[in-house]
Amino acid sequence: MEYLKAFRTLECTYEKAPEIFCAKYDQLRSEEMKEVYSQIYKPSDDTYLLIDAIYADLDNLVKSSPSRCLEIGPGSGLVTTTVALLLQKNYEEVYKNMKFYTLDVNEKASEATLFTFAQCNDLPESKIETITGSFNDYNNKEDEKSPDLQTDILIFNPPYVPCTDEEMEEALEKKDVSAAWAGGYGGREVIDKLIPKVRDFLSPTGIFYFLLIEDNDIYDITKSIIEAANEGLLEDQPKLTFEPIMKRECLGERQVIIKFYFE
Ligand SMILES: C[S@@+](CC[C@H](N)C(=O)[O-])C[C@H]1O[C@@H](n2cnc3c(N)ncnc32)[C@H](O)[C@@H]1O
Repeated sequence: MEYLKAFRTLECTYEKAPEIFCAKYDQLRSEEMKEVYSQIYKPSDDTYLLIDAIYADLDNLVKSSPSRCLEIGPGSGLVTTTVALLLQKNYEEVYKNMKFYTLDVNEKASEATLFTFAQCNDLPESKIETITGSFNDYNNKEDEKSPDLQTDILIFNPPYVPCTDEEMEEALEKKDVSAAWAGGYGGREVIDKLIPKVRDFLSPTGIFYFLLIEDNDIYDITKSIIEAANEGLLEDQPKLTFEPIMKRECLGERQVIIKFYFE
Protein backbone atom coordinates (compact mmCIF):
# COMPACT_ATOMS: atom_id res chain seq x y z
CA MET A 1 0.00 0.00 0.00
CA GLU A 2 2.84 2.31 0.88
CA TYR A 3 4.17 1.82 -2.64
CA LEU A 4 0.88 2.62 -4.31
CA LYS A 5 0.49 5.81 -2.28
CA ALA A 6 3.84 7.14 -3.47
CA PHE A 7 2.84 6.65 -7.08
CA ARG A 8 -0.59 8.23 -6.69
CA THR A 9 0.82 11.46 -5.33
CA LEU A 10 3.35 11.80 -8.14
CA GLU A 11 2.99 15.02 -10.02
CA CYS A 12 4.21 15.72 -13.52
CA THR A 13 6.69 18.52 -13.37
CA TYR A 14 7.52 18.67 -17.07
CA GLU A 15 10.64 20.57 -16.21
CA LYS A 16 12.75 20.67 -19.32
CA ALA A 17 16.49 20.48 -19.60
CA PRO A 18 17.68 23.45 -21.61
CA GLU A 19 17.20 22.74 -25.28
CA ILE A 20 20.85 23.49 -25.99
CA PHE A 21 21.91 20.25 -24.33
CA CYS A 22 19.63 18.05 -26.38
CA ALA A 23 19.48 19.87 -29.68
CA LYS A 24 23.12 19.22 -30.41
CA TYR A 25 22.34 15.58 -31.00
CA ASP A 26 20.91 16.57 -34.38
CA GLN A 27 24.32 17.80 -35.41
CA LEU A 28 25.77 14.38 -34.86
CA ARG A 29 24.24 12.64 -37.79
CA SER A 30 27.29 13.27 -39.83
CA GLU A 31 28.12 11.08 -42.82
CA GLU A 32 31.01 9.69 -40.80
CA MET A 33 28.77 8.27 -38.10
CA LYS A 34 25.65 7.50 -40.14
CA GLU A 35 26.35 3.77 -40.20
CA VAL A 36 26.94 3.60 -36.44
CA TYR A 37 23.86 5.65 -35.58
CA SER A 38 21.67 3.41 -37.77
CA GLN A 39 22.53 0.50 -35.45
CA ILE A 40 21.71 2.05 -32.10
CA TYR A 41 18.66 3.34 -30.23
CA LYS A 42 17.84 6.84 -31.42
CA PRO A 43 17.05 9.33 -28.67
CA SER A 44 13.31 9.28 -28.16
CA ASP A 45 10.68 10.49 -25.67
CA ASP A 46 12.00 8.14 -22.98
CA THR A 47 15.55 9.45 -23.46
CA TYR A 48 14.37 13.04 -23.00
CA LEU A 49 12.24 12.15 -19.99
CA LEU A 50 15.30 10.68 -18.31
CA ILE A 51 17.32 13.80 -19.11
CA ASP A 52 14.54 16.10 -17.85
CA ALA A 53 14.19 14.12 -14.60
CA ILE A 54 17.93 14.17 -13.87
CA TYR A 55 18.08 17.88 -14.68
CA ALA A 56 15.19 18.56 -12.29
CA ASP A 57 16.97 16.55 -9.57
CA LEU A 58 20.46 17.97 -10.18
CA ASP A 59 20.73 19.77 -6.82
CA ASN A 60 20.08 16.48 -5.00
CA LEU A 61 22.36 14.51 -7.28
CA VAL A 62 25.40 16.59 -6.31
CA LYS A 63 24.74 16.60 -2.55
CA SER A 64 26.90 13.57 -1.83
CA SER A 65 29.78 14.81 -4.05
CA PRO A 66 29.61 11.93 -6.55
CA SER A 67 32.77 10.90 -8.34
CA ARG A 68 31.48 8.10 -10.59
CA CYS A 69 28.49 8.01 -12.91
CA LEU A 70 27.55 4.80 -14.72
CA GLU A 71 24.90 4.55 -17.40
CA ILE A 72 23.82 1.04 -18.30
CA GLY A 73 22.66 0.93 -21.93
CA PRO A 74 23.74 4.41 -23.11
CA GLY A 75 22.69 3.88 -26.75
CA SER A 76 23.63 7.17 -28.41
CA GLY A 77 25.33 8.42 -25.24
CA LEU A 78 23.08 11.47 -25.12
CA VAL A 79 22.00 11.01 -21.48
CA THR A 80 25.52 10.62 -20.08
CA THR A 81 26.80 13.46 -22.25
CA THR A 82 24.01 15.74 -21.07
CA VAL A 83 24.60 14.86 -17.41
CA ALA A 84 28.31 15.63 -17.85
CA LEU A 85 27.51 18.92 -19.51
CA LEU A 86 24.95 19.92 -16.88
CA LEU A 87 27.49 19.26 -14.14
CA GLN A 88 30.26 21.05 -15.98
CA LYS A 89 28.07 24.15 -16.39
CA ASN A 90 26.36 24.16 -12.99
CA TYR A 91 28.64 22.35 -10.55
CA GLU A 92 32.18 22.71 -11.84
CA GLU A 93 33.80 21.52 -8.60
CA VAL A 94 31.78 18.30 -8.65
CA TYR A 95 32.36 17.85 -12.37
CA LYS A 96 36.13 18.12 -11.93
CA ASN A 97 36.15 14.99 -9.73
CA MET A 98 33.74 13.01 -11.85
CA LYS A 99 34.40 10.15 -14.23
CA PHE A 100 31.68 8.82 -16.50
CA TYR A 101 31.27 5.15 -17.38
CA THR A 102 28.90 3.46 -19.80
CA LEU A 103 28.13 -0.23 -20.28
CA ASP A 104 26.21 -1.49 -23.31
CA VAL A 105 25.91 -4.92 -24.97
CA ASN A 106 25.88 -3.23 -28.37
CA GLU A 107 29.42 -2.29 -29.46
CA LYS A 108 28.02 0.36 -31.79
CA ALA A 109 26.44 2.04 -28.76
CA SER A 110 29.86 2.28 -27.12
CA GLU A 111 31.23 3.81 -30.33
CA ALA A 112 28.34 6.28 -30.63
CA THR A 113 28.61 7.23 -26.95
CA LEU A 114 32.28 8.09 -27.26
CA PHE A 115 31.58 10.14 -30.37
CA THR A 116 28.62 11.96 -28.81
CA PHE A 117 30.62 12.77 -25.68
CA ALA A 118 33.53 14.12 -27.67
CA GLN A 119 31.44 16.06 -30.19
CA CYS A 120 28.73 17.64 -28.09
CA ASN A 121 30.86 19.92 -26.05
CA ASP A 122 34.28 20.46 -24.60
CA LEU A 123 34.29 17.28 -22.54
CA PRO A 124 37.66 15.53 -22.77
CA GLU A 125 37.73 11.86 -23.71
CA SER A 126 39.68 11.11 -20.54
CA LYS A 127 36.46 11.80 -18.61
CA ILE A 128 34.63 8.82 -20.08
CA GLU A 129 35.15 5.08 -20.30
CA THR A 130 32.81 3.13 -22.56
CA ILE A 131 32.55 -0.59 -21.85
CA THR A 132 30.95 -3.08 -24.20
CA GLY A 133 29.26 -5.82 -22.20
CA SER A 134 26.27 -6.74 -20.09
CA PHE A 135 25.54 -5.71 -16.53
CA ASN A 136 24.87 -9.42 -15.94
CA ASP A 137 28.62 -10.03 -15.98
CA TYR A 138 29.41 -7.57 -13.17
CA ASN A 139 29.17 -7.82 -9.38
CA ASN A 140 28.55 -11.58 -9.33
CA LYS A 141 29.86 -12.61 -5.93
CA GLU A 142 29.68 -16.32 -6.71
CA ASP A 143 31.93 -15.85 -9.75
CA GLU A 144 35.50 -14.84 -8.86
CA LYS A 145 36.19 -13.58 -12.36
CA SER A 146 33.24 -11.21 -12.37
CA PRO A 147 34.54 -7.64 -11.92
CA ASP A 148 33.06 -5.24 -9.37
CA LEU A 149 31.54 -2.05 -10.68
CA GLN A 150 30.19 0.37 -8.10
CA THR A 151 28.99 3.86 -8.78
CA ASP A 152 27.57 6.97 -7.13
CA ILE A 153 25.12 7.74 -9.93
CA LEU A 154 23.49 4.85 -11.81
CA ILE A 155 21.25 5.46 -14.81
CA PHE A 156 19.27 2.96 -16.89
CA ASN A 157 16.60 3.22 -19.57
CA PRO A 158 16.18 -0.52 -20.12
CA PRO A 159 14.69 -2.51 -22.97
CA TYR A 160 11.10 -2.74 -21.72
CA VAL A 161 8.93 -3.71 -24.69
CA PRO A 162 7.18 -7.10 -24.31
CA CYS A 163 8.21 -9.51 -27.06
CA THR A 164 8.22 -13.21 -27.94
CA ASP A 165 10.86 -15.67 -26.74
CA GLU A 166 12.26 -15.83 -30.30
CA GLU A 167 12.63 -12.06 -30.51
CA MET A 168 14.30 -11.99 -27.11
CA GLU A 169 16.73 -14.75 -28.06
CA GLU A 170 17.59 -12.95 -31.28
CA ALA A 171 18.27 -9.71 -29.41
CA LEU A 172 20.50 -11.45 -26.88
CA GLU A 173 22.44 -13.14 -29.65
CA LYS A 174 22.79 -10.26 -32.10
CA LYS A 175 23.33 -7.50 -29.50
CA ASP A 176 22.22 -4.98 -32.10
CA VAL A 177 19.48 -2.36 -32.08
CA SER A 178 16.91 -5.02 -31.14
CA ALA A 179 18.62 -5.28 -27.73
CA ALA A 180 17.47 -1.72 -27.16
CA TRP A 181 13.78 -2.55 -27.01
CA ALA A 182 13.36 -6.33 -26.62
CA GLY A 183 12.23 -6.90 -23.03
CA GLY A 184 10.89 -10.45 -23.32
CA TYR A 185 7.85 -11.64 -21.41
CA GLY A 186 5.98 -8.65 -19.94
CA GLY A 187 8.96 -6.52 -20.98
CA ARG A 188 10.58 -7.75 -17.77
CA GLU A 189 13.38 -10.15 -18.69
CA VAL A 190 16.28 -7.69 -18.68
CA ILE A 191 14.79 -5.63 -15.84
CA ASP A 192 14.31 -8.68 -13.61
CA LYS A 193 17.98 -9.62 -13.99
CA LEU A 194 19.01 -6.22 -12.61
CA ILE A 195 16.66 -6.27 -9.60
CA PRO A 196 18.86 -8.37 -7.26
CA LYS A 197 22.01 -6.49 -8.35
CA VAL A 198 20.99 -2.88 -7.78
CA ARG A 199 22.53 -2.57 -4.32
CA ASP A 200 25.84 -4.02 -5.53
CA PHE A 201 26.07 -1.43 -8.28
CA LEU A 202 25.62 1.44 -5.82
CA SER A 203 28.14 3.07 -3.49
CA PRO A 204 26.87 3.74 0.07
CA THR A 205 25.56 7.14 -1.04
CA GLY A 206 24.55 6.02 -4.52
CA ILE A 207 21.51 7.20 -6.44
CA PHE A 208 19.80 5.22 -9.21
CA TYR A 209 17.59 6.82 -11.88
CA PHE A 210 15.50 4.08 -13.51
CA LEU A 211 13.03 4.51 -16.37
CA LEU A 212 10.07 2.14 -16.40
CA ILE A 213 6.68 1.99 -18.05
CA GLU A 214 3.48 1.17 -16.20
CA ASP A 215 2.93 -1.95 -18.33
CA ASN A 216 6.06 -3.47 -16.73
CA ASP A 217 4.31 -3.30 -13.32
CA ILE A 218 6.35 -0.54 -11.76
CA TYR A 219 4.99 -1.25 -8.29
CA ASP A 220 6.24 -4.82 -8.35
CA ILE A 221 9.67 -3.87 -9.73
CA THR A 222 10.16 -1.11 -7.16
CA LYS A 223 9.07 -3.33 -4.27
CA SER A 224 11.37 -6.13 -5.46
CA ILE A 225 14.40 -3.80 -5.76
CA ILE A 226 13.83 -2.36 -2.28
CA GLU A 227 13.31 -5.77 -0.69
CA ALA A 228 16.36 -7.31 -2.38
CA ALA A 229 18.58 -4.34 -1.48
CA ASN A 230 17.56 -4.15 2.17
CA GLU A 231 17.47 -7.85 2.92
CA GLY A 232 19.65 -8.82 5.89
CA LEU A 233 20.66 -5.25 6.78
CA LEU A 234 21.20 -4.29 10.39
CA GLU A 235 18.89 -1.69 11.87
CA ASP A 236 21.46 1.12 11.82
CA GLN A 237 22.58 0.51 8.22
CA PRO A 238 21.28 2.91 5.54
CA LYS A 239 18.27 1.50 3.70
CA LEU A 240 17.47 1.88 0.05
CA THR A 241 14.29 3.81 -0.58
CA PHE A 242 12.63 5.31 -3.65
CA GLU A 243 10.70 8.22 -5.08
CA PRO A 244 8.91 8.41 -8.43
CA ILE A 245 10.18 11.79 -9.64
CA MET A 246 8.73 12.34 -13.09
CA LYS A 247 6.23 10.77 -15.43
CA ARG A 248 4.95 11.38 -18.92
CA GLU A 249 2.58 9.73 -21.34
CA CYS A 250 3.81 9.22 -24.89
CA LEU A 251 1.65 7.51 -27.50
CA GLY A 252 -0.29 5.71 -24.77
CA GLU A 253 2.89 4.55 -23.00
CA ARG A 254 3.08 5.80 -19.40
CA GLN A 255 6.75 6.30 -18.61
CA VAL A 256 7.98 6.96 -15.08
CA ILE A 257 11.38 7.79 -13.63
CA ILE A 258 11.98 6.18 -10.25
CA LYS A 259 14.83 7.46 -8.13
CA PHE A 260 16.35 4.98 -5.67
CA TYR A 261 18.58 6.32 -2.90
CA PHE A 262 19.73 5.54 0.65
CA GLU A 263 18.29 7.07 3.80
C1 LIG B 1 16.00 1.74 -24.55
S1 LIG B 1 17.68 1.76 -25.01
C2 LIG B 1 18.20 3.23 -24.17
C3 LIG B 1 19.30 3.99 -24.87
C4 LIG B 1 19.65 5.35 -24.24
N1 LIG B 1 20.03 5.22 -22.86
C5 LIG B 1 18.49 6.30 -24.36
O1 LIG B 1 17.83 6.55 -23.33
O2 LIG B 1 18.27 6.80 -25.47
C6 LIG B 1 18.38 0.43 -24.04
C7 LIG B 1 19.89 0.23 -24.17
O3 LIG B 1 20.26 -0.83 -23.27
C8 LIG B 1 21.21 -1.70 -23.92
N2 LIG B 1 21.14 -2.99 -23.23
C9 LIG B 1 20.21 -3.97 -23.35
N3 LIG B 1 20.48 -5.00 -22.53
C10 LIG B 1 21.62 -4.67 -21.84
C11 LIG B 1 22.42 -5.33 -20.85
N4 LIG B 1 22.11 -6.55 -20.38
N5 LIG B 1 23.54 -4.70 -20.39
C12 LIG B 1 23.90 -3.49 -20.88
N6 LIG B 1 23.18 -2.81 -21.82
C13 LIG B 1 22.05 -3.39 -22.29
C14 LIG B 1 20.77 -1.68 -25.37
O4 LIG B 1 21.78 -2.09 -26.27
C15 LIG B 1 20.36 -0.19 -25.55
O5 LIG B 1 21.46 0.58 -25.95
